[in-house]
Amino acid sequence: MNLNKISPYPTPLIKLESDYLNKQNVNLYIKRIDLIHPYISGNKWFKLFYNLIEAKEIGEDTLLTFGGAFSNHIYAVAAAGNEYGFKTIGIIRGEKHLPLNPTLRFAESCGMKFYFVNRSLYRQKESSEFKEWLEDKFGNFYLLPEGGTNSLAVKGCSEIITSIDMEFDYICTACGTGGTLAGLVCGLSGKENALGFSVLKGGDFLIKNVEKNIQKFSGEIFHNWDIKLNYHFGGYAKITNELINFVKMFEKNYGVPIEPIYTGKMIYGIFDLIKNNYFKKNSTIIALHTGGMQGLKGLQNKIKKYTSSL
Ligand SMILES: Cc1ncc(COP(=O)(O)O)c(C=O)c1O
Repeated sequence: MNLNKISPYPTPLIKLESDYLNKQNVNLYIKRIDLIHPYISGNKWFKLFYNLIEAKEIGEDTLLTFGGAFSNHIYAVAAAGNEYGFKTIGIIRGEKHLPLNPTLRFAESCGMKFYFVNRSLYRQKESSEFKEWLEDKFGNFYLLPEGGTNSLAVKGCSEIITSIDMEFDYICTACGTGGTLAGLVCGLSGKENALGFSVLKGGDFLIKNVEKNIQKFSGEIFHNWDIKLNYHFGGYAKITNELINFVKMFEKNYGVPIEPIYTGKMIYGIFDLIKNNYFKKNSTIIALHTGGMQGLKGLQNKIKKYTSSL
């Protein structure tokens, strides 16, 4: 097992070139942390890394976590367990549907055991009663929260900043729980700016979560970050014609594959801010490619529905 290095290999930082971006006077880069590992991709690698070390150090041999049936986090935890020698248990929101979708099929092939819980029970997953019930049922385990955000994940994500050896003005990420953004803010230590793009509707809890996670890890309050709340396209995992069109245009013009649930919404938001002159002239902006490409397999039917009506 090699858990000695935060990053097994450096990931590319690619300048996106177009007449449009030149005309708008911005330098836009994409940091391909999605390429860090074929299965523990993007922010998942950084969120999990120190947690895996901690689990080994305290002698836990089982990782238990939560997620929806298409969750990138479930997929990555299953892969990490398989690669680094942990048993894995996934508590999955909602009923079991057979055949399993591509995300769960992959997780199962990595050895993950599933336990499906209905939505009302799932909502109680952070209660002490639920934790006791899990312990009775599964014995000892290392608990990873839904989405993988805890202080060790924030620590890992803070190291995304050290992996960038170029000056910049803004670093951008898609936000679900906000753990990745909290890590970026901690890594910046008050320099440059971090911008999050919420993929969920209703961002107040998200802002509070980011503040809490920054303070918990760094003990500091920073003001060099913001979350844009207007690019969720109707809510988590919701997509529209306009979004799918944009994702296709982006891939065609810039040659970088993205997906519509996380990175597509962020990049749409960045282009919208560029159009509205949000960034100062000659700003250098880095968009973080946080991965999530595995989710495309389970989205094909939904996407086809949109593309066929274009
Ligand atoms: C591909 C991808 N990008 C971004 C995020 C958002 O990360 P966070 O929950 O840390 O805000 C997630 C969710 O974990 C994700 O799967």
